[in-house]
Amino acid sequence: MNYPMNFRRQRQTEALRRLFSEVSLTSKNLVQPYFVYEELKKPEPLTSLSGQTKHTGDSLVKEVETLLKNKVSSVMLFFVPTQKAEKNFSYDFDTKTIHRLKETFGPDLNLFTDMCLCSNTVSGHCGICTDKGIIDNNSSVKELAHKSLQYAQAGSDAICPSDMMDHRVKAIRETLNANNLHQTLIMSYSTKFSSNFYGPFREAAKSAFQFGNRKTYQLDYRHTSDAIRCSLRDAEEGADSLMVKPATLYLDIIKEIKTNPQTAHLPLAAYHVSGEYQSLHLMEKAGIMSFKEGYLETLTAIRRAGADIIITYGAKDFRDFYEL
Ligand code: PBG
Repeated sequence: MNYPMNFRRQRQTEALRRLFSEVSLTSKNLVQPYFVYEELKKPEPLTSLSGQTKHTGDSLVKEVETLLKNKVSSVMLFFVPTQKAEKNFSYDFDTKTIHRLKETFGPDLNLFTDMCLCSNTVSGHCGICTDKGIIDNNSSVKELAHKSLQYAQAGSDAICPSDMMDHRVKAIRETLNANNLHQTLIMSYSTKFSSNFYGPFREAAKSAFQFGNRKTYQLDYRHTSDAIRCSLRDAEEGADSLMVKPATLYLDIIKEIKTNPQTAHLPLAAYHVSGEYQSLHLMEKAGIMSFKEGYLETLTAIRRAGADIIITYGAKDFRDFYEL
């Protein structure tokens, strides 16, 4: 056999390496998360996440204009309310902001909204607590479906439940359909692990839990089959797309969900979370890695594992960083 043993031949120049590369990564694959604060009068730097901003409604509109020019069409919004509550949550600020963005940008913008209660609750948990400090599944799902309806009516293109209560996708789908919102997508955080890498986010979203941890609802990273069946269930309950979160520590799970015949037909997102993103910046600050180079390698690895979509804080800077 005339086997080409000389593999280095193909790696000689950047032009050749580029020609033979197999994984594509463009700004169309990316979703930019933004934090919007009810209490702020003007935008401020978000100190726990390099290059990110705490937005007001006004500053977000300007920011999204630039984002669209940079060919990123999708945003994931996190609203940070002034008042925490135990019940009777108010979503007025959130819905006004959603409405305004959709009025301004229309169908050019894919407006996704994170669906959770952790920024709303006094406990900082993603669901509603009983007197005994247990996160109650039924009342939480009811509130999430109610909140989803408000967001969808305001114009959110996709509801993205990240709370990890059982059967929230089914409840949200039924509520949306019952209100004639058949076209609103559900992009579920279907496989979301209880991770140590959410720290900078919780500081940003003011959503740190006041007691216990999130291990009774987020997934245990030792349990592979639970990770797979959660995505399977959300697919069965009507999710339009699935997600693995965090991304880089869970490339095996991304690959498995993308290749499993029962889930492979759905678009798969991966969330490159705050701690993953910030650790690359900290390595650069320590002088041991270039953020840009390390970030490109990271995003490419997530795509190579099988993610169609990547939610990542550097989406807005992607075109400034790289000419791909
Ligand atoms: C809300 C939510 C979290 C993240 C996304 N949605 C925090 C959490 O579950 O504690 C984390 C995102 C990130 O770290 O970038 N539940």
